[in-house]
Amino acid sequence: MHHVGLAELAAAVSNAGGLGIITGLTQRTPQDLAAEIRRCREMTDKPFGVNLTFLPTVNSPDYPGYIRAIVEGGVKVVETAGNNPAPYLASLKEAGIKVIHKCTSVRHALKAESIGCDAVSVDGFECGGHPGEDDIPNFILLPRAAEALKIPFVASGGMADGRSLAAALSLGADGINMGTRFVATQEAPVHENVKQALVAATELDTRLVMRPLRNTERVLRNAAVDRILEKERALGTGVKFEDIVDEVAGVYPKIMKDGALDAGAWSCGLVVGLIKDIPTVKELVDRIVREATDIISGRLARMVV
Ligand SMILES: Cc1cc2nc3c(=O)[nH]c(=O)nc-3n(C[C@H](O)[C@H](O)[C@H](O)COP(=O)(O)O)c2cc1C
Repeated sequence: MHHVGLAELAAAVSNAGGLGIITGLTQRTPQDLAAEIRRCREMTDKPFGVNLTFLPTVNSPDYPGYIRAIVEGGVKVVETAGNNPAPYLASLKEAGIKVIHKCTSVRHALKAESIGCDAVSVDGFECGGHPGEDDIPNFILLPRAAEALKIPFVASGGMADGRSLAAALSLGADGINMGTRFVATQEAPVHENVKQALVAATELDTRLVMRPLRNTERVLRNAAVDRILEKERALGTGVKFEDIVDEVAGVYPKIMKDGALDAGAWSCGLVVGLIKDIPTVKELVDRIVREATDIISGRLARMVV
């Protein structure tokens, strides 16, 4: 998560028994990523991963440099997202790194499987960030993925608690991935305003921006988002990235670090409607496991005796 997935949060998730992920591109250079990996290692002796988001831009970041930092940093799991990771798979696999590709459709998941990804993260329409353009929620997407895939997959989008975990396992997933829920934790290195906004918001408070650009993003509604939607309405299919650039480019540090919530559009999932507190990551993860265990061995088990 851009400007959220720093060493503090990744280490806290790994220490709690999950797989914490550092957001690669939040680090401005491969050298900065190498330093962030070292910082994370000082905070945990458990495995953690790095996310590499392949952006649809012409001037692409120094991906080979970032991959060198990951390999030399001894990281063994990379979560890829965005464009097809094929050009970089060989260098990751040669270093013995497991690759989880994030997909928003069964066809993309099958493609990831066919090019040699080890697992996929299946992101339903509920998810914060980029849900793709198919609009298939996880109640349909996950069982479809389970039918089609041979490699393991985690359910992503809308996951908040033990009910989500039990449901995702029932639908065929091997685990869950959480974005928005982890932003509202003690260890998330973001401004308190962001966490309080998540607690205050309901499931009615997200919006989809950049639909006409086919780069849809689910974000928390705010003044900047209203401005984007107004421009999109006014300009119709003629809207260009440059028309909304002020509200979407370079805004994350202002929001996440300074707490200027209306500075631009920031990713947030429908799951925000289920976020009511700001626990430590360990409290959250332990609670999820406890709730899921109780649901499976209690309520659900009683239904079959
Ligand atoms: C604030 C924020 C920033 C995000 N930034 C990225 C990113 O840079 N790259 C990426 O692949 N996904 C990003 N995501 C998406 C998450 O990794 C994850 O797929 C998504 O949040 C799952 O849905 P959920 O929010 O319902 O848990 C971001 C999500 C949030 C909430």
